[in-house]
Amino acid sequence: MSDLKVVILAAGKGKRMKSKLPKVLHPVCGLPMVQYVLDAAREVSPEKPLVVVGYKGEEVTGVLGEQAEYFWQTEQLGTGHAVKIACSGLGSFNGDLLVLYGDTPLVTAATLRQLIARHRQEKAAVTLLSTEVEDPGGYGRVLRDGDGRVIGIVEDDQATPEEKAITEVNTGIYCFRYSDLNEALPELRADNAQGEYYLTDVVALLQEKGRKIEAVKAGDSWEILGPNDRKALAETERLMRQRILMHWMDEGVTFIDPTTTYVDPRVKLGADTTVYPGTHLYGETVVGEGCHLGPYTQITGSRIGNNCRVFFSVLDTVEVGDDVNIGPFANLRPGTVVEARAKVGDFVELKNSRIGMGSKVPHLSYIGDSQIGSGVNIGAGTITCNYDGKNKHATIIKDGAFIGSNTSLVAPVTIGENALVGAGSTITKDVPGRALAIARAHQVVKENWRKQEEEKD
Ligand code: UD1
Ligand code: CA
Repeated sequence: MSDLKVVILAAGKGKRMKSKLPKVLHPVCGLPMVQYVLDAAREVSPEKPLVVVGYKGEEVTGVLGEQAEYFWQTEQLGTGHAVKIACSGLGSFNGDLLVLYGDTPLVTAATLRQLIARHRQEKAAVTLLSTEVEDPGGYGRVLRDGDGRVIGIVEDDQATPEEKAITEVNTGIYCFRYSDLNEALPELRADNAQGEYYLTDVVALLQEKGRKIEAVKAGDSWEILGPNDRKALAETERLMRQRILMHWMDEGVTFIDPTTTYVDPRVKLGADTTVYPGTHLYGETVVGEGCHLGPYTQITGSRIGNNCRVFFSVLDTVEVGDDVNIGPFANLRPGTVVEARAKVGDFVELKNSRIGMGSKVPHLSYIGDSQIGSGVNIGAGTITCNYDGKNKHATIIKDGAFIGSNTSLVAPVTIGENALVGAGSTITKDVPGRALAIARAHQVVKENWRKQEEEKD
C-alpha cells in the first residue's frame, strides 16, 4: 500500500495524566504507548510514518529515533492543527492518509487493514473507526442521520444532553482521501470551548460538501481507545498483558496463573515452557523450550536456553545455556553467562562472570568478574574479593578445580586446572594446576585444657 501514508499525533501533553512525561511515552507493559502505534503502522505501510511532536518533543524523538519522520507542532492548537502541520510535508501526494493518535496502544494492524479496505471499497472521502462503549464520557460522539449515515462527530464539551447519550464514540483512527482532507483542513475553525482546531470537525465539513463518509465499528469496543488518565492507563496495561499472554498460550506456553504473570511485548517464549505465578519477563528476553520459570522470578533482557529451571530468582542481562538450574534466591547481574548443565543455587550472586559447562555454585557465594571453567565445584560461602576499593580485578578458575567451602579468592588470582583449595582459605597467590592450596591458620589443639582450668578453681 505505497499510496498510503500514516500520520501519528503525539504532540499533546496529556494534562489528565498529571505527569512530567508526555502522555505518549507512558509505558504500557514496558514499552511507550506510541511505540505500539508505530508497530501497527509499520505493518500496514512500509514507509516511515509522519509523527507530529510538540510537548517535550525531544523526549519523543529521542525514544523513537530513526523509526519516523518528525513534524513539530510548537503550540498544541488541537488535533486538526497537528494534522495540518504533517500535511505540510506531503506536497502533491495523491493517496490515502491514515491518521492515528499516539495514545491508542491497543490498536492492531488487522483493525487498520480492515479500515483501509472498507475505505477503498466504498471510495469514501473519510472512513472513521468507531466503537460502542457503556460510558462514553470524554469521547467524541458519532452523529448519524435518520438513515444511519455518519454526518459528523461532536466532542464531549460541545455535545447537547441528547448527543451525550450517544454510545458510539470516535476512536481517533481515520483513513482520509488526502485530496479531500487537504481541501477541508483550511476551513477548520477553533470556535469551541478549548479554542482548538478539532480534526473531528473535518467529518462534518466533508459531509456538507456532499462527500462520502464511512464508518467501521470495531467489535472489540473500548480496547482501541486512548487512556487519558492513570486509571485508564492501568486498564490498558491489563488488556495489553492479557493479549500478550493469549498469544503465547496459542504458541504452546503454559501460564499457571495469568493474573500474576507479566510478560513484555518483545519477549519470546518457546513451546512447552511453563511459567509459574509471580513471574515477570521483561525487555527482549528470549526463553527456549521446556523451561520452568518461577514462581516469583524476574528476568530482564536475558537469553535462556532449553529445559532450564529458574525459580525465586532475579536475572538481568544474562545468558543461560541448556539444562541449567538456577535458584532459589539467586541474583544474576549483567554480563553473566551460565553455560549448559551448570547449577547456581541458593543465595548466590553472580556479576559479569562466566560459569562453565556443568560447573556448580550451589550455595551462599559472591562471584564477580570471574571466568570459571567447566566441571568446577565452588564450595558454600566462597567469595571472590574482586574490589580493592579503587579497581575491580578478575578471578580465573580453570576446568575441574575444586574450591573448598568458605574460601576468599583475592583478585587478581588464577586457580589452575584440577587444583584443590582447602576449605576456609584466603587465597592471595595463584595456585598451579593439580596443586593443593591451603591458606589458613594451623589448628592448635591443647590436650586436657579444660581439665587444668577446672583444677585451678
Ligand atoms: C480525541 C478526539 C475524540 C476521540 C478521542 C479518542 C479530537 C478533537 N477528539 O479526543 O473525538 O473520541 O480522541 O481517544 O480529535 N495531539 C496533538 N496535538 C494537539 C492535540 C492533540 O498532537 O494539539 C495528539 C495527542 O498527543 C494525542 C492525540 O492527539 O496523542 C489525541 O489528543 P487528546 O487530547 O488525547 O484527544 P481526546 O481529548 O482524547
Ligand atoms: Ca485521548
